[in-house]
Amino acid sequence: MTSAAAVIRVEQPPDAAAVGALLRRCFSGEPVDALVQALRAGPGYLPELALVAVDERIPGGIAGYVAITRTAAAESPDRLDENGFHRAEPLLCLSPLAVHPAAAGRGLARALVEEVLARAARHRPEPYVVLEGDPALYRRFGFVAAGQVGLRSPSQRIPQSAFQAAVLPATGDRPRGRVVYDEVFWTGITPGLPFEGIAWLDELEQCCRGLERLLRERVEASGPATVLATEVPACPGWTVADVLDHLATIHRVVIAWLREGRRPRAAPPARGEGPIDRFGRGWRAVHDELSARSGDQPAATWCPWEATVAFWQRRMAHEHAVHVADLGEALEGSWQAPPDLAVDGVDEALRLWLGTRLGAEVRGRGDGVRIVAHEGPARSWTVVLHQRFAEIHELAEIAGHPVPVEAEVSGPPVELYRWVWGRQARVSVTGDPESAQVLREALVRACR
Ligand SMILES: CC(C)(COP(=O)(O)OP(=O)(O)OC[C@H]1O[C@@H](n2cnc3c(N)ncnc32)[C@H](O)[C@@H]1OP(=O)(O)O)[C@@H](O)C(=O)NCCC(=O)NCCS
Repeated sequence: MTSAAAVIRVEQPPDAAAVGALLRRCFSGEPVDALVQALRAGPGYLPELALVAVDERIPGGIAGYVAITRTAAAESPDRLDENGFHRAEPLLCLSPLAVHPAAAGRGLARALVEEVLARAARHRPEPYVVLEGDPALYRRFGFVAAGQVGLRSPSQRIPQSAFQAAVLPATGDRPRGRVVYDEVFWTGITPGLPFEGIAWLDELEQCCRGLERLLRERVEASGPATVLATEVPACPGWTVADVLDHLATIHRVVIAWLREGRRPRAAPPARGEGPIDRFGRGWRAVHDELSARSGDQPAATWCPWEATVAFWQRRMAHEHAVHVADLGEALEGSWQAPPDLAVDGVDEALRLWLGTRLGAEVRGRGDGVRIVAHEGPARSWTVVLHQRFAEIHELAEIAGHPVPVEAEVSGPPVELYRWVWGRQARVSVTGDPESAQVLREALVRACR
């Protein structure tokens, strides 16, 4: 096909370098080139739906690029597969779209999008193409806000108007519900318009999805009964089923806190068949409940100083991050909290749990212990355990007035996160090991 002096054709392997250069030019500072490389290597790549606009007047000869891949799915509520996992129904995703500045304004983007949509409509069974982008641009090409066709955005980072869908003429049921992205979009880039107020909801989702993937693999290999009966060394006496049901109970309690606006009298009854299903329904319900509110909205909590939805967003991320790592260890998976989440988890364990939950149980001798995160966001705290309370300083807050310490515990954030939660951890302890041990035991009591 020819458009505005450019020929539109399917991308060929030798185009990759020129496409890379085009993407770096159009999206400077954003790793869109790496995203396209990951898309090409992934299972959702559809070679017939990756198009280039060839124009010899442009350096490199490639003036435009568009790709549609099979990298999204709609999660239809209440449709489960045979193992109790939520069924995800595949969708197409348009990303990226780029036209070289020297070729802009000549209708190339329109030609690329119209051509790729026409090919998708002819050859693909999926009912929708979704994307994130500026509605002022994409509505010109027939996209509508995805909410209009019953699809919800995969992430709180994406404003509702920026998440859009084009309707393809597929026959059969059209899924409704929340759209989920393939791993490639989570690990490489999360495009979309800037959005304030991220509160670990994406991290919560990713770790729960990662756990579901691991459970699915293990269930396929050894059957549900063996997987559910596997012992979880980090939670002595508990099996995988126990940890999943513990999380499912927390889901129901937290939803009750949010809806009732007070401490619930009893956990509402469980829904779902078996621990995997209960966990799957539960975390999605919590995530939906939290995503529907903004972090600064008032909410009832058990924390004396933090009565907002943000408390629960953070708490749920850490509750899951800790237990998903426990289950991953038990099932030989490899999930680890990202460093920024881990550092925030150390802060939460110290200030929230140690800071509020010990009461008369504190048996400190006034020893100070410094906790230092080596990598990732640089943070360090000094904790002084007194007879009945814990004093927690962040060094930045008391610059120039260092609190004397008897011991220092340091390590990468993820190891410190494990240490404060009483898990086996590779941290270095210098100074008096007994002071560090007293703090660790206090943390174990507080975080239980
Ligand atoms: C945005 C981009 C793809 C437009 O390419 P283009 O070839 O200049 O666009 P076209 O000439 O085909 O324009 C198609 C229509 O979109 C409009 N348009 C173009 N750029 C637009 C923008 N940034 N915002 C809103 N509308 C835009 C044009 O006015 C035109 O409208 P019309 O058909 O009603 O007259 C190109 O500028 C680009 O690659 N930018 C950098 C990367 C990017 O932002 N990609 C989109 C990611 S969401």
